[in-house]
Formats: sequence, C-alpha cells, structure tokens
Amino acid sequence: MQVQRFGVSLEKEVLDSLDRFVEQKKFPNRSQAIRYLIRKNIKEESWKENKIVAGAIVLVYDHHKRELQKHSTELQHDYHDLILSVQHVHLDHDNCLETISVKGKAHDLMDLANRLISIKGIKHGDLVMSGM
Ligand code: NI
Repeated sequence: MQVQRFGVSLEKEVLDSLDRFVEQKKFPNRSQAIRYLIRKNIKEESWKENKIVAGAIVLVYDHHKRELQKHSTELQHDYHDLILSVQHVHLDHDNCLETISVKGKAHDLMDLANRLISIKGIKHGDLVMSGM
C-alpha cells in the first residue's frame, strides 16, 4: 500500500500523551501509533453502525462441566449463520480452548459472544472484531 506523508499540529500536552502511548504499547514510532489509533477508531465506528465485520470468539473452559459444553453447543447452533469455523484445542487434562471464527453484523456477533462468555463456568472469554 502506498504511504503518504502529512503534517499534524498538536498541543504539547496531546503530543506528550501520544509519546507515552507509543512507549507503553512499544510502537516503533509515532506513525505506527497514529495508524493504530485511526484504524481502531474506524473499526469501532463500524461496530456502532452495526456493519458486517469478521472476528473470533475465544473461550477457555473446563470440559468436565458437561452442562457448559451442552449450553455452548446449543447457542452455537442457534447462531450457526454467524459461525465460520470452530477450533477446539485440549490445553491440558481439564482445560479446553475454543476459537470460534465469526462473520456478521457487529451487534449480532456481540450478542453471541456475550451469551457464550456469560455461560456459568467459562474461565475466560473474549471477542475480537475487525472491520472488513
Ligand atoms: Ni478439549
């Protein structure tokens, strides 16, 4: 992709906070940080506008909790039109990691993710969405 340069004027205070952000997040330079912030903002706008986005729901749970797995499978069937693939990894004797690739309207993906993540016994759950 072609890169174009442009000048930006900022108050010292804003520039200082940008530099702190660059350091905290270990960006190689200010351009990379600004690029990240712009993309993040555009992405979040497309979520608000309920546009079609793609993403992944990540769940970690103890597979001995049978009800949990049953509930999760039922929910995934209810939302099957949003789900592209499911990858299940057995992390150790007890724990499973499930990565559910999804695509659809942002609000529907959030609904599905919230329902899955709030199932009793889920140890960790998160939704990552990307604009398309
Ligand atoms: Ni497993």
